Amino acid sequence: MKKGNQIFEERLERHIDELKWLYMELYDNQGFFDDLLSRLRQFYEERSLPLKKLDQEREKDPGWYRKNGMLGMMLYVDQFAGDLKGVRKKLDYIKRCNVNYVHLMPLLDTVEGRSDGGYAVADFRKVQEKLGTMEDLEKLADQCHKQGVSLCLDFVMNHTSEDHKWAKKARAGKQEYKDRYFFFDNYSMPAMYEKTVPQVFPTTAPGNFTYLPDMQEFVMTSFYPYQWDLNYRNPVVFNEMMYNFLYLANRGIDVLRIDAVPYIWKQVGTDCRNLPQVHTIVRMMRMIGEIVCPGIVLLGEVVMEPEKVAPYFGTVEKPECHMLYNVTTMATTWHTVATGDVRLLKRQMEIISSLPSDYTFLNYLRCHDDIGWGLDYPLLESWGMYQVPHKKYLNDYFTGKWQDSVSRGELYNEDLVTGDARFCGTTASMCGVEKAGFEQDEEATDAAIQMDVMLHAYMLFLSGIPMLYSGDEIGQVNDYTYKNDPNKAADSRYIHRGKFQWNLVDNISHPDTVQGKLFGRLDQLEKIRGQEKAFDASAGFWTLETWDNAVLGLAREGKDGKLVGLFNFSGEPRVAWIDEGDGEYQDLLTGAVMKASGVRVDGHGFYWLKRMA
Ligand code: GLC
Repeated sequence: MKKGNQIFEERLERHIDELKWLYMELYDNQGFFDDLLSRLRQFYEERSLPLKKLDQEREKDPGWYRKNGMLGMMLYVDQFAGDLKGVRKKLDYIKRCNVNYVHLMPLLDTVEGRSDGGYAVADFRKVQEKLGTMEDLEKLADQCHKQGVSLCLDFVMNHTSEDHKWAKKARAGKQEYKDRYFFFDNYSMPAMYEKTVPQVFPTTAPGNFTYLPDMQEFVMTSFYPYQWDLNYRNPVVFNEMMYNFLYLANRGIDVLRIDAVPYIWKQVGTDCRNLPQVHTIVRMMRMIGEIVCPGIVLLGEVVMEPEKVAPYFGTVEKPECHMLYNVTTMATTWHTVATGDVRLLKRQMEIISSLPSDYTFLNYLRCHDDIGWGLDYPLLESWGMYQVPHKKYLNDYFTGKWQDSVSRGELYNEDLVTGDARFCGTTASMCGVEKAGFEQDEEATDAAIQMDVMLHAYMLFLSGIPMLYSGDEIGQVNDYTYKNDPNKAADSRYIHRGKFQWNLVDNISHPDTVQGKLFGRLDQLEKIRGQEKAFDASAGFWTLETWDNAVLGLAREGKDGKLVGLFNFSGEPRVAWIDEGDGEYQDLLTGAVMKASGVRVDGHGFYWLKRMA
């Protein structure tokens, strides 16, 4: 048996040269580097035995988080079950949803009214009182591990809340703490930055700086004015934030979602996004994790165009994030819903399938944030879809202004100058469940459910890890009550972050209800996904030509065979012809034996077919 410190020393040995090289390149400070190393050792020593055991198991099985059975769900603790203890009691429901990976939305200390949904952290080592304590979090993590569920937590590293103790000390004029942020005593530097740095929240929080009248100074705030950007040029900031990361890791977290990571390095004259130093920092985080807590997976939140996203995987020799959000695919999916034209989505799938299969994407139909129309406009324009009118069409379509649209939802951060806007709404509302329910139109309800199921079937078919948003599994619609809360009213993202409707869960065993129809069909798909090795993230994935622009054809191939997926994004029946459709296939949902080519696919229908041996 290897002794604990021997394991640590071996892991350190593996990374020390590169870690030191990168650290010195960025900070050139031996004293701080030594401090970092001694704290890594300390965090390792403090790590509990069960977590160390899990680390070792995962080191032997590095693909543990990318298996075909993985299914994630994201939820707000309070909206879902009141508090952390409540979530623990609801683990059975989570298991019933076939979910084994839960992203708990930000739950660390924050100040009500200045919280940005918890993304303004006032204390990285304290849980919001209304949700419970660190001990509750540890107990939940422990229970999750016993039930085979992994936990994901956000690590909001770009900024702290203005209520964080560092910010308070900075505000009291202490230079040592002011140096952890970006302070300016006049507007000349901020003005230079503003020339090249885009705005994140052009309407709800315009600009990238906030004037503090009490200090008569400006502070950099890329997001809301109460979220102060951290200065990673200062090694204290890097070290202290790594200690916060390891502190959370030692509470039993499995996946760390690195929030807004492209923004963490600032350089005047640039757009302050994706700068090379960001990659150095992420690479160092990866090594620090592999030294202290190798069971942990880093999930990068990179909401950028595809060519900016993939570099966050790093290289095979020098990996950065384990997982990244498949954000362009998500936005392109909704473009495809609104246009019924799969060409762009197919192109996007081709890009994804050309990437190394080591890259693991987190696939989702929607999350807690808005949907931004970051589409491949040069390509769309070559097909006659021009950016400004097309975005307007998408926004009109999804807000239900377009005559044929069944979607309901609201715009987000509409920029009155450029006319640009993003969109918010739940999956069910975007698919028409809300409209049909309001009009008590049963046929339209069934059509909406059909589209909702097809989109989930397509999302579950993609290469990577699928992620559900809590409530989508029972077709929860938009929640307009945020408008009555002055702390939320200005931020329409709350429309799709509503309270989980436990009363609807009672319906899931009644097949004549929306919940029964949706939950039952998703359940079947999720179970099939858990059985078929072709859904493992390491399996082959490619696109198929269907000779119909409304039908997306995808294929997967794993150890136990080949699958073909056909997804009709139009409301009418279509026939899909595919070149690889030779031989007999079995419909994985009904068991029927059929050919995979010349398949008639219902409006918003789909097929999951398996090639027979
Ligand atoms: C991420 C979060 C978003 C938040 C922002 C600032 O993009 O997903 O909700 O507003 O970071 O922390």
